[in-house]
Amino acid sequence: MRISRMRWYLAGAALACGAPPAIAADSSRIDPGFDYHSYANVDQFLVTHIELDLRVDLDFKTISGVVGLEFKRLDPRATQIVLDTKDLTINDVNQRATDVLGATAKSQTFWVSRPFHLEKPDPILGSALVIDLPPSRKSVESIRIDYETTATAAALQWLTPKQTAGRHKAFLYTQAEPIGTRTWIPLQDTPQVRATYKAEIHTPSNVLAVMSAGNDPKVKRTGDYSFVMPQPIPSYLIALAVGNLEFKETGPRTGVYAEKPVIKAAAKEFADTESMIAAGEKLFGPYRWGRYDILVMPPSFPVGGMENPRLSFVTPTVIAGDKSLVSVVAHELAHSWSGNLVTNATWRDAWLNEGFTAYLESRIMTQVYGEQRASMQAVLDLRSLRDALAGLNPKDQALAIDLRDRDPELAFSEVPYEKGRLLLSYLDAKFGRDRFDTFLRGYFEHFAFKSITTEQFNQYLEENLLERFPGIVTHEQVLAWENAPGIPADAVLPVSSALSQVDDARSAWLGGTLDPKKLGLDWVAQQWQYFLDGMPAELKDVDLRRLDQAYGLTRSANAEIEHSWLELVVRNNYQPSFARLEEYLKTIGRRKLITPLYLDLMKTPSGSEFAKRVYALARPGYHPDTVAAIDAIVTPGADAEGSQ
Ligand code: BES
Ligand code: ZN
Repeated sequence: MRISRMRWYLAGAALACGAPPAIAADSSRIDPGFDYHSYANVDQFLVTHIELDLRVDLDFKTISGVVGLEFKRLDPRATQIVLDTKDLTINDVNQRATDVLGATAKSQTFWVSRPFHLEKPDPILGSALVIDLPPSRKSVESIRIDYETTATAAALQWLTPKQTAGRHKAFLYTQAEPIGTRTWIPLQDTPQVRATYKAEIHTPSNVLAVMSAGNDPKVKRTGDYSFVMPQPIPSYLIALAVGNLEFKETGPRTGVYAEKPVIKAAAKEFADTESMIAAGEKLFGPYRWGRYDILVMPPSFPVGGMENPRLSFVTPTVIAGDKSLVSVVAHELAHSWSGNLVTNATWRDAWLNEGFTAYLESRIMTQVYGEQRASMQAVLDLRSLRDALAGLNPKDQALAIDLRDRDPELAFSEVPYEKGRLLLSYLDAKFGRDRFDTFLRGYFEHFAFKSITTEQFNQYLEENLLERFPGIVTHEQVLAWENAPGIPADAVLPVSSALSQVDDARSAWLGGTLDPKKLGLDWVAQQWQYFLDGMPAELKDVDLRRLDQAYGLTRSANAEIEHSWLELVVRNNYQPSFARLEEYLKTIGRRKLITPLYLDLMKTPSGSEFAKRVYALARPGYHPDTVAAIDAIVTPGADAEGSQ
């Protein structure tokens, strides 16, 4: 499949970062800083502020209303603004009359209709919305677009009351990264554009709306909610959730939103959030976003967490009862520096968001929970990286990969996260903690509220670390990290003595010299995960039964341990746990937890029959992104269009 772009969208698309002029997508040279996943002509028009006035209809499953875009015309000759849309119905486009040349002062309050059309849709990018604008010399202009969403909007999940924890009221949430925002708002959907936003959200009066903006914990449920996001953010961070939500404070600037049945457990699980922010501020500089709240999502939420500014969205599968999985919160919070403050300019640069954040997450975890906990997680994550590398073609093992003509979701393998983290750990080890931390704080300060490319990072790194302390790491070594496949030979790899013990115990148990009852009596969750993940491909039913009887693995309250156990169950076709497997697949929509299970099930005829049956039941409860991922595994080649 080719992503079609018209030449005139590309004309002079050089970016502020000094990129060379854009090249056609079929050329072999990538243009750093050019966003191949947006139609927006950002060299000609730049949106700086967004105003939403939207009605959320939970019965008809539509969002409708108006978006106002304020923009600067960078090129005075330009007379067409191009926006991103996908599966949207555009009803009308108007321009503020006083923005139009020749308009009189009398027409101040009037809006004039503007011609517009939608280009032919591309399956990944959607349709360019082209709006004709007469010349203007105003420094800031405004347009308003009347629109509504459609049933196929990939960023929206509409849950029926039965699919929620409370079971009484419907729920809506958005999950848009990387390019889903265009399915619920027409705008310049590229992370290199940053805008402030305001929103008026209208809902039934018995539900609450929250957004990635200022949320007032004491707000009255009226059905009319106002939001302000005063800091400029990229489009993928505009987020909304509507449901029967309650709030519970966990600190002066922190709290949790959740449905009633989970709010108490959530507040307990996330009680250390303030300590995490304090750790982040000490290490990386001020937290610049005011409040930091956590929204506990329904179990169908497709990712572990999403770093929506001021309000991280987090999967309920993190609530294990013992804080053992809260590194997800440390991760989403860390994005307040890497990702939300300093943002990847294009999805090729996603490692600047995720690799930095994986590294920052470990630093916060070390500060709050100690070295042992953080290094166990780092070792587990390194193993996932190794597993992922084994299945990736060499080109996709680079930190900044070529995503032209491809879905930018592909940018999010383990590579940007874990190889990115290893690069930063390497620099940390080579230059020493003090120098590296000074570098990091300087980086966040220097690029605050900017979107940058890998090349801009490289230049800053060279000037502020490599050349400042010469003879330690060369520019070529950094380029090898970024561009060569695999893990460089001189990487500084995490080690964990707490996990080495587990290796010993596993060998003893497999060798029959350790009673399963004596196994891991004082183990923490990461040790159990590591124990189960390191099992040989085949285990005997009797051994699985003994393990399960001793440790109740089939009924574990920890979704990660449960996942590792169910992997063994599937691989060994251990039937006594299949009922639990079915329940797990039907209740959890987090891709990382269910995709490997479906993949393994599909390897055998009986497994694939089971997978197909259970998936048919589970599919209506999954987010569109999860549906797309699992469709590709369970019904490859089938046209799933419209069957969400
Ligand atoms: N930004 C990501 C979520 C994301 C990834 C959205 C890919 C869209 C595409 C988020 O910060 C993240 O990395 N979440 C992780 C959790 C983390 C602890 C590694 C996840 O969802 O697993
Ligand atoms: Zn992340």
